[in-house]
Amino acid sequence: MSLNAKIRFVQLSLFYGAFAALKRVSMTMAERHITALIGPSGCGKSTLLRTLNRMNDLISGVRITGQVLVDGKNIYGPGTDVTELRKRIGMVFQRPNPFPLSVRDNVAFGLRVAGLTSRSDVAPIIERSLRAAWLWDQVKDRLEQPALDLPLDQQQRLCIARLLAVEPDIILMDEPCSALDPIATGKVEELMLELKKQYTIVIVTHNMQQAARISDVTGYMLLGDMIECGETAVLFTNPQDRRTQDYLSGRYG
Ligand SMILES: Nc1ncnc2c1ncn2[C@@H]1O[C@H](COP(=O)(O)OP(=O)(O)O)[C@@H](O)[C@H]1O
Ligand SMILES: [Mg+2]
Repeated sequence: MSLNAKIRFVQLSLFYGAFAALKRVSMTMAERHITALIGPSGCGKSTLLRTLNRMNDLISGVRITGQVLVDGKNIYGPGTDVTELRKRIGMVFQRPNPFPLSVRDNVAFGLRVAGLTSRSDVAPIIERSLRAAWLWDQVKDRLEQPALDLPLDQQQRLCIARLLAVEPDIILMDEPCSALDPIATGKVEELMLELKKQYTIVIVTHNMQQAARISDVTGYMLLGDMIECGETAVLFTNPQDRRTQDYLSGRYG
């Protein structure tokens, strides 16, 4: 694989108070690839994901050592504009979280925040974003209806459309399919494969099969350690670490 490193964690540790949730994690994530983080509940997957848009900053008592490089720049270094960072790095959560607004206003939300308010400027971006999230055909006649009236899988794709509207280059997904049925999950997975042509995607999943199906690179975490990471096909068929073998074969916990 020719890897253009979009993201690099360098000896990254994160403490919640005295508790080390990440222990000297080092890993590279390639541009326009899907990287999956797997591991048992509580091993630090979400924490690692959240370091990328500095969401852990919002929690008091959090301390970080090491570096998180995005495009070669340490996002924990001085001079990082966190608002700008969060625009560049969008996040999708476990439960779809559309705002209690219309479909249109959800997608327009980030644009409004950025000061783009004219309807004629916003309309084409809304259509483009909804098309990119494979939602346009389903919602084009109901743009003024409440987003919360949409079925759950459409809500999740609406959340994806909402973040695409502000043109991020990295998309973080924290168990984005865990509230969805298998058919809806399949749609989101297909969408991810399409989106990776343009975006760098990092997904946390507790579903090993999902990681195997859609990711290019997988990292296996355990108790805050990055035990092993590498090409997904290799990690799943020929894991090097005994602990990875145990987890993949279901012998863990
Ligand atoms: N805000 C927090 N304050 C204190 N401990 C936390 C907080 N968030 C997560 N943790 C702890 O950090 C560890 C890693 O959590 P998390 O990143 O959510 O794991 P995962 O996503 O792999 O399930 C767990 O032991 C969890 O209890
Ligand atoms: Mg989690």
